Amino acid sequence: MGGTWFLGKRIAEDALARGWEVATFNRGLSGRDVPGVETFRGDRTNITDLNRLAAQGPWDAAIDTSSSDLAPRDVLAAATALRPVVHRWVHISTVSVYQGWPHLSLTDDSPLLECPPDADESYGYTGADGSPTQYGFQKAGGERAVTEVFGDAAVFLRPGVILGPGEYVGRLPWWLERAKRGGRILAPAPAEQRIQPVDVRDVARFALTQATGSARGGFNVTHPDGISFRDFLEACLTETGGAGAPVWVDPSVLVEQGVKQWTELPLWRTHAGVWAVDSSRAVAAGLECRTIAETVRDTWRWWAADGRPVDHPRWAEHGIAPETEAKILASL
Ligand SMILES: NC(=O)c1ccc[n+]([C@@H]2O[C@H](COP(=O)([O-])OP(=O)(O)OC[C@H]3O[C@@H](n4cnc5c(N)ncnc54)[C@H](OP(=O)(O)O)[C@@H]3O)[C@@H](O)[C@H]2O)c1
Repeated sequence: MGGTWFLGKRIAEDALARGWEVATFNRGLSGRDVPGVETFRGDRTNITDLNRLAAQGPWDAAIDTSSSDLAPRDVLAAATALRPVVHRWVHISTVSVYQGWPHLSLTDDSPLLECPPDADESYGYTGADGSPTQYGFQKAGGERAVTEVFGDAAVFLRPGVILGPGEYVGRLPWWLERAKRGGRILAPAPAEQRIQPVDVRDVARFALTQATGSARGGFNVTHPDGISFRDFLEACLTETGGAGAPVWVDPSVLVEQGVKQWTELPLWRTHAGVWAVDSSRAVAAGLECRTIAETVRDTWRWWAADGRPVDHPRWAEHGIAPETEAKILASL
């Protein structure tokens, strides 16, 4: 479900490389078909398209990467239409489904936000400090919808932040560009704060592991070791050859200066639990994560070879304007 964009594309490529037979279902609006897949076009919010897709089955597994903007009731409709022809469902969810994210340390068993499985797109809300999010409610309802239909034949992967070649959100590409520009770089203290982004290729591999497995329930998919913000920025500087010097600024100053968390300085957020997501269950079940320095290197190679702003509405949200950054640095 999906298969042409960021994570879905990697899953399709990896599955083909293993010699699997792969079909992708999407509207034909984002990205390109991966050569070698069987393609089905349709809108998954349209029941006629879903029934047409179901008539092409059966499949050993479905991997759902295309429900990021879908209401639970649409996830429910897709799962229901495909249940007779799909043996197992791997659902790509998010850590945003947890009541405690980003405030508390989390395990896979932490309580989820409450959302009915047949809720429409208006269900939920986003809190004043950006938590919880309506997205989190909707994804939690999507999980419930899949559970209702697939029961123990469903598994839920809950990544935090996914980075890597092809990233469309603009988080790592922005830091790479910023490092390349050099100079004094506004950086969020403490420099030793560990962050846990996970590489898109590792999420894809784990999704395929789960497609053939028999596990049930949820898996947090976050980097088990993480990397300090200092080492992350050092890796960006090394790869890009930038001669920049991070200036580590206390979070209270950044907040006071109105720096938007999560977007203006991507990957930075003050909440205590944002990078305290335990993925040991996934690691025990086969999640293997390359080092984040490798993700930085390969993303820079992709970006340097192919780099142009990705045509996605979220791209423009990311990164602080050079004049705002300079003003804050000058005020210190
Ligand atoms: N990126 C992150 O940091 C992050 C973090 C946590 C969780 N996640 C989750 O990871 C999953 C994968 O994200 P992604 O970035 O790889 O892909 P995505 O942007 O969520 O999905 C894109 C894919 O879905 C297809 N699609 C979208 N709407 C569709 C519709 N109505 N009918 C049929 N196909 C549709 C798109 O093709 P067409 O447009 O051509 O139809 C495309 O192939 C999502 O569920 C997201 O919530 C992402």
